[in-house]
Amino acid sequence: ETRLRDLAGRTGVTVDAGEVFARLREVGDEFQRLQMYYQFGIDEVSTKIAILRDEFATMYDYNPIEHVRSRLKSPDSLLSKALRQGVDLTVPAIRASIRDIAGIRITCSFVSDVYWIAQMLSAQPDLTVLTTKDYIANPKPNGYRSLHLIVQVPVFLSRHTEHIPVELQIRTIAMDFWASMEHKLRYKYSADMPAHLRAEIDDAARVAADLDARMSRLRDEVRPNPTDDLT
Ligand code: GTP
Ligand code: MG
Repeated sequence: ETRLRDLAGRTGVTVDAGEVFARLREVGDEFQRLQMYYQFGIDEVSTKIAILRDEFATMYDYNPIEHVRSRLKSPDSLLSKALRQGVDLTVPAIRASIRDIAGIRITCSFVSDVYWIAQMLSAQPDLTVLTTKDYIANPKPNGYRSLHLIVQVPVFLSRHTEHIPVELQIRTIAMDFWASMEHKLRYKYSADMPAHLRAEIDDAARVAADLDARMSRLRDEVRPNPTDDLT
């Protein structure tokens, strides 16, 4: 407040510091509420995933899910994405255009499990699939593969219901391995990735896809897949 008054005094602008701080506090509260709602969205979808996993482990002694990680977009990266995309810096505009505030990444052993989980979740009556991007059937030019779904889940609060979009990235261990390596290299080199590294990444993408294909063949030989029977 002292700094604000000081600045106002030097620039000759009249500001009501009390009002400015009241507005800042209001925006802060609004963002805190937003974070809370999206965390609830993550909690709801995480429970659904955990239920599928535990049921399968109990009934079939088979676990189609290796691990699950969730993250809430940090206020910093939310703000920079909004600025980058030219989104109005208001809570309604941000909510309408940024769909990956809540994110869950599910890693599976086999490609068939990836589709199985997507199918199980999509069929649940309270989940609405907003978008599906199948980068397994259609990998990105750089070799990125994963199945991306944006699902909307209702969160029941004391006075109203919030419909929260949650980004799901479903992939195999091989896809995840490749993506985390590519992410690190891209971050390190940003625009000017050396050509030999580019080639290595391309090659690693082929090896990862080949490994997934081999694993599927192996599993088919070992035993029938419980997830195949049910879809
Ligand atoms: P974002 O604005 O980045 O969310 O992209 P988008 O709206 O076009 O969605 P898309 O489904 O293409 O990507 C969403 C997320 O998938 C990204 O934020 C990354 O986490 C992941 N992803 C997409 N492409 C790549 C890639 O080439 N490499 C890696 N490592 N991750 C990727
Ligand atoms: Mg994103």
